[in-house]
Amino acid sequence: MKFESTAPIVALAALPFASAWGNLGHETVAYIATNFVSSTTKTYFQNILGDTTTDYLANVATWADTYRYTTAGEYSEPYHFIDANDNPPTSCGVDYDRDCDSAGCVVSAINNYTTRVQETSLKSSERIIAAKMIIHFVGDIHQPLHDENLDVGGNDIDVTYAGTSTNLHHIWDTNMPEQLVGGYTLADAKTWAANLTTGIKTGTYKSSASSWLTGMDLSDPVSSSMIWAQDSNAYVCTTVMPNGVSSVENVDLSGDYYDTAIPVIEEQIAKAGYRLAAWLNLIATGSTGL
Ligand SMILES: *[C@@H]1O[C@H](CO)[C@@H](O)[C@H](O)[C@H]1NC(C)=O
Ligand SMILES: *[C@@H]1O[C@H](CO)[C@@H](O)[C@H](O)[C@H]1NC(C)=O
Ligand SMILES: [Zn+2]
Repeated sequence: MKFESTAPIVALAALPFASAWGNLGHETVAYIATNFVSSTTKTYFQNILGDTTTDYLANVATWADTYRYTTAGEYSEPYHFIDANDNPPTSCGVDYDRDCDSAGCVVSAINNYTTRVQETSLKSSERIIAAKMIIHFVGDIHQPLHDENLDVGGNDIDVTYAGTSTNLHHIWDTNMPEQLVGGYTLADAKTWAANLTTGIKTGTYKSSASSWLTGMDLSDPVSSSMIWAQDSNAYVCTTVMPNGVSSVENVDLSGDYYDTAIPVIEEQIAKAGYRLAAWLNLIATGSTGL
């Protein structure tokens, strides 16, 4: 599956591909995680990343989307998704053996980089890459269309959004989050993260947040992240295209469709940030701390 870039909409026409959650989504996930990691975890990752600012996670959250388009980073292109060969909207489901081939996928990548970031014998330049990959891929796996093979994860489903021609994958990555938040800067991400963090601590997500950590086991990153992939992929059948491709193709989705999708986007970003915090805490301290 290929994606276009995270760049602002104006630049898209010039770019061959676009990314996972756009910059806004990835940076928001990183800021939510920043709000929940322990102080030990913070120090651990600030040291690995060589960044002692409070933006140490958000600053590297989109690096993997740039790296994949470089010659050195080409190998990592399949790591941004898992191509579930399911049959939406009739049946959804991800199967690791069926859907993650020898080139790798987001689940095998989370596994690989979780191992590598803990290898203190590894060169520091390699541990930096591992940390950046984890921060990014825990975001990607929570975008439902990153867990779907159909029509290249929706990239080949043409839609319009507020009158502009785009595709289904892109509106999930970018248009709908940006409509909600009203921008895509690092400051916008921080504000959105604060909002969702409140939702987790005292609001809408308070009662479900602990269930988001179910099955999380640092010694088994594949089964841990497969739970996240299954969870996200289920939304392909319930929310992304509950009435099939023909009901969204060539339709303007900025109205009723947006209203139905946006609560799922908010929850998936919140979940990704909370799970990322727990995963980083496990790596640095051995416990989710949450
Ligand atoms: C693990 O990551 C390293 C460094 O990016 C890469 O060279 C290697 O191919 C990866 N292995 C797997 C199984 O993904
Ligand atoms: C912030 O949170 C409130 C209350 O939960 C919600 O109604 C609002 O849509 C949120 N705003 C954004 C930009 O997420
Ligand atoms: Zn990505």
